Amino acid sequence: MSGTSKFDATGKQNAGTATHDAKVWNVAIVGFGTVGNSVARILCERAPSPLRLTHICNRSVARKKVDWLPPSVQWTESFEDVLSSDVDIVVEVMGGLQPTEDWIRRALASGKSVVTANKQLISRCGPELISLARSMHQEIAFGASVAGGVPVISGLHEGLAGDDLFKICGILNGTCNYILSQIESNGVSFATALREAQKLGFAEADPTEDIDGLDARAKLAILARVGLHCNVQPASILCRSISAIDSVDFEYANQLGCTIRQISMAELKGDQLFAAVQPALVELSSPLARVEGSQNLVMSTGTYGGETVFGGHGAGGHPTAVAVVSDILAIARSKQAGVCEEAHAAEITPKVTADFATRHYLRFLVKDRPGIIATLATILAEYDINIEAVLQKPGCSKSALPFLITLEECRASLVEQALQKIALLDFLVHPCLHLPILVGDLHAK
Ligand SMILES: NC(=O)c1ccc[n+]([C@@H]2O[C@H](COP(=O)([O-])OP(=O)(O)OC[C@H]3O[C@@H](n4cnc5c(N)ncnc54)[C@H](OP(=O)(O)O)[C@@H]3O)[C@@H](O)[C@H]2O)c1
Repeated sequence: MSGTSKFDATGKQNAGTATHDAKVWNVAIVGFGTVGNSVARILCERAPSPLRLTHICNRSVARKKVDWLPPSVQWTESFEDVLSSDVDIVVEVMGGLQPTEDWIRRALASGKSVVTANKQLISRCGPELISLARSMHQEIAFGASVAGGVPVISGLHEGLAGDDLFKICGILNGTCNYILSQIESNGVSFATALREAQKLGFAEADPTEDIDGLDARAKLAILARVGLHCNVQPASILCRSISAIDSVDFEYANQLGCTIRQISMAELKGDQLFAAVQPALVELSSPLARVEGSQNLVMSTGTYGGETVFGGHGAGGHPTAVAVVSDILAIARSKQAGVCEEAHAAEITPKVTADFATRHYLRFLVKDRPGIIATLATILAEYDINIEAVLQKPGCSKSALPFLITLEECRASLVEQALQKIALLDFLVHPCLHLPILVGDLHAK
């Protein structure tokens, strides 16, 4: 594949608008896959000053070579070559936890700054990597690790630094959003929507990380650190799968003026962080409801500035590479100016809970017989839970009858306790689907 290249005949990158005495910052890309390839394309085609791509490192690198990069770029399968070179900024886009963590540590320890798109790694050991970077007077930037090309990390860290943010809520996983949008607009089952997403490359062969919420909670943990200054491990955030959502749930949700999205939400209240990644009902008029396909959206709320919305392409080689190159440029600028970017300091280690007080959606699938509603109402009343409405779609099979109960606002933990008792009832065809209804002012109570 060929592309427009801003290189001279000897293969040297043009200096662009840089002045002759401005230092050029050498860049290595480690991992030449989807994102690595797009980063190289932008560095090659746009040649943003004052950057120069000097190394590409990948295992079995011979099969990775492309003809559109200048001959001056060194292709290597040894990370030692990168470490011992005059590279200033190492771009880690190979993913995974190891050897990635070791390589990033070694790059920082040898006086190189790092840009990474690796949410799993940053959500687990971001704080240690940041303090290692600082101790070496280097930087580690991870703008591409959340919401791909949407500049939400820099938006929260710099653009909203003047506010006192207390809540972050968003759609952080494009695969889930694509699957839910397909169930909603085509009335297909979850299994069919997933197969379609896999065929189109929107979902991995093993989609567990996405559909069970593990990917989104790693991103939420990063956002909670950057925006809410909370030290939170991803494993402490509740996540629930979208796999039980059926097209009938969209019909019921619509009757309530809502739709269903995988929502990642974190709200700081005193020393408690209310946080969860789960499918939830959101109002049709909310910006969250209008996020289609694989788009991402993040809403932050601050004491002084109120609500701010960031949206755009949450994944894909080129959008993610834009975030990576923006981070490289920011590091080059601060190095040029001789300053070290302020780190994302976590000031609070909160108690993490998912015990939000909201209205609730309970969808049952039952073998029909008289007295079912009365039995459920009795159990809910034992936990002091008030029923708000009961909806039943007409014309369904008596042997697998879906119906809906909505509950007035109460704590999620109470509902879960009642559902444990309800799970023992013999008329249930499937376990009850329990979703929070996130409408109005979504404050943790
Ligand atoms: N793709 C996206 O839309 C997106 C969005 C946001 C963030 N990210 C993050 O960006 C990172 C890269 O994602 P990607 O989609 O570009 O992945 P990818 O297409 O699988 O590329 C990874 C590259 O790294 C190489 N690699 C993996 N392990 C290696 C090792 N131990 N030594 C040397 N090379 C190794 C792979 O080589 P092989 O060809 O041999 O496997 C491959 O070329 C991940 O952290 C991902 O979470 C991706």
